[in-house]
Amino acid sequence: MRLILVTGGCGFIGSEFIRQQLATNPGLTIVNLDKLTYAGNPENLTQLANEPRYIFRQADIADPDAVAALFQEFAFDAVVNFAAESHVDRSLLDSGPFVTTNIVGTQVLLDAARRSKTPRYLQVSTDEVYGSLGATGLFTEETPLAPNSPYSASKAAADMLVRSYNHSFGFPAIITRCSNNYGPYQFPEKLLPLFITNLFNDQQVPVYGTGQNVRDWIHVADHCRGIAAALEKGTPGEVYNFGGRCEKTNLDLTFLLLDLLEKPRSLIRYVADRPGHDLRYAIDCAKAERELGWTPQVTFEQGLADTIAWYRANGEWIDHVKSGAYREYYTRQYGDRLKG
Ligand code: NAD
Ligand code: DAU
Repeated sequence: MRLILVTGGCGFIGSEFIRQQLATNPGLTIVNLDKLTYAGNPENLTQLANEPRYIFRQADIADPDAVAALFQEFAFDAVVNFAAESHVDRSLLDSGPFVTTNIVGTQVLLDAARRSKTPRYLQVSTDEVYGSLGATGLFTEETPLAPNSPYSASKAAADMLVRSYNHSFGFPAIITRCSNNYGPYQFPEKLLPLFITNLFNDQQVPVYGTGQNVRDWIHVADHCRGIAAALEKGTPGEVYNFGGRCEKTNLDLTFLLLDLLEKPRSLIRYVADRPGHDLRYAIDCAKAERELGWTPQVTFEQGLADTIAWYRANGEWIDHVKSGAYREYYTRQYGDRLKG
């Protein structure tokens, strides 16, 4: 592949994918279409400022004219759709942007790619579309979809659209579903960067409910290697799950962070639970290993140490993203809970 469109490339995972793929594929050029919402940060890609194989366009994936113009300008070999509203808690505050970007935006991209006969389309989805597990079991690609939050419902709707374009039109689309990512450049609304950056300043960390919810952690570089493998070797119409085989309760993870940062447990604040909070996610990624030759490479121990070191070394990046709008969100989301 010589020219691919990445959407949402100024976010956490999209920016990792762009840096990784440009570094490992000398013949590849990437066009990044990003609306630059609160989560889209051009600083995530400053190292590519002088890279001729990187092209940026600011636009909304849900804007059919802007997307059509881009497909007129470039003949893409593939599209990788990362662009999304990605935070469950924000979807509980206001689901509107989730429907517009995650569902309508996907439909607009699918139509543009189909019209242009783009040979490959990859939808970056999430394990949250499967709903919640009990104490045992793993999500496979055959697990029925049962999304529980407005965020996961919008991602599941997008997956259904992708599926239907493949089924009805033979459109060459692939879906990937990954578990919780961690690593550098993650916006500090998500658990790990929120807790790490709060703890640097001896601020409290808000654990929802009793902290017994389980997430399956995977390093963002492993997720991006999986997406690249699916793009290259995946079969159109298929779904591939990625996970880190690294289940942790939120409380155990919080204890681990406190220990690594040498902070007291008194900084934990148990706050009101997330409404409809999914108990447990855990991925069976055997299909991706078998069919794509992919396997997660980064151990959680190493990945977490590197992630903490990255945030420690990038205080300026943290200061910029934790600016006015972030503080407003933080107060809205945590103000009452941290008082209670
Ligand atoms: P993020 O919130 O960090 O970044 C999202 C990016 O999309 C931002 O750059 C934002 O500006 C851009 N964007 C939002 N709306 C847009 C629009 N209408 N048009 C164009 N660009 C728009 O998200 P992330 O954590 O990097 O997640 C990327 C993708 O991966 C999402 O589709 C998400 O559902 C999926 N995913 C995330 C995780 C995770 O753990 N973070 C796990 C599995 C799947
Ligand atoms: O599983 C993949 C999904 O992982 C992605 O699709 C989403 O885009 C991504 O945001 C992530 O969703 P989660 O809701 O699992 O991630 P979050 O970091 O918001 O929360 C992780 C767990 O920590 C969850 O059980 C809720 C809990 N939590 C979160 C926050 C922000 C807290 O206890 N306190 C908090 O302040």
